[in-house]
Amino acid sequence: MFNFKIIESNYYLRHLSLLMVKKNKVSLKDQIVIEKLPQHIAIIMDGNGRWAKGLGKLRIFGHKKGVSSVRECAETSAELGIKYLTLYTFSTENWSRPKIEIDAIMELLVSTIRKEKETLMKNGIKLQTIGDINSLPTKCASELTKTIEETACNTKMTLVLALSYSAKWDMINAIKQISTKVKDNSLAIEDINDITINQHLSTRNLPHPELLIRTSGEQRISNFMLWELAYSELYFTSKLWPDFNKEDLYEAILDYQNRERRFGKTSEQVS
Ligand code: IPE
Ligand code: IPE
Ligand code: MG
Repeated sequence: MFNFKIIESNYYLRHLSLLMVKKNKVSLKDQIVIEKLPQHIAIIMDGNGRWAKGLGKLRIFGHKKGVSSVRECAETSAELGIKYLTLYTFSTENWSRPKIEIDAIMELLVSTIRKEKETLMKNGIKLQTIGDINSLPTKCASELTKTIEETACNTKMTLVLALSYSAKWDMINAIKQISTKVKDNSLAIEDINDITINQHLSTRNLPHPELLIRTSGEQRISNFMLWELAYSELYFTSKLWPDFNKEDLYEAILDYQNRERRFGKTSEQVS
């Protein structure tokens, strides 16, 4: 009887470890449930400067390396079946940085859009922007317009670049438009609701992001999509943006998929 118990427990232990080995062999990508993918992922790409500093290089070196992470995340998202990927690329507040860094970022933006057009076409990605595009250097704005037109027919995924963007800037614009409509009697105050606000933001054609990722260890929103993130799942990672790769993206998606989104209801109601 005693011996039998030992054999029995060994048998279970062996099976348990086999299961664990098997589990470890399942790649992060294979653990993702396609039916539970977020439709829209937004990313605050942070940490380029610190990444460069760590190597004793200039900040712009980090921004340049960050482009590879952008490419990898965009290709991976499109391949998985994510419909919208929004990247916080340059904020309203970033205009306060030293001119030399701003100029270098704008130059990098122009060269990247030119070089990566092929990546967008190859992966069926449509380009869109949100933000005060008129405040960007002319060369930058025209390169963006050209690429937006050329990729307009792509349907696999929409890549949204938030440029010279801030949530407060967007909300102020929306309030101005709504107030004008109220003033000229084309909109009644009592008809203003959730939908009205959505329709006057620059994100009007996008579903709200289900998942927000921020790299670099900072745990703040930094004036990004304040309205749209109302019920998003927030995911913070200490990885610096230039180090963020597809495995990190899979990990973030898996973390999201293991959360219970309750929207004010009880756990029993949603399960
Ligand atoms: C994010 O990286 C890129 C932009 C804001 C343009 P940072 O440049 O903010 O890098 P850190 O946060 O200083 O490391
Ligand atoms: C947020 O990063 C803006 C972008 C990623 C474009 P910042 O580095 O500008 O944010 P703060 O100022 O540290 O919060
Ligand atoms: Mg930063």
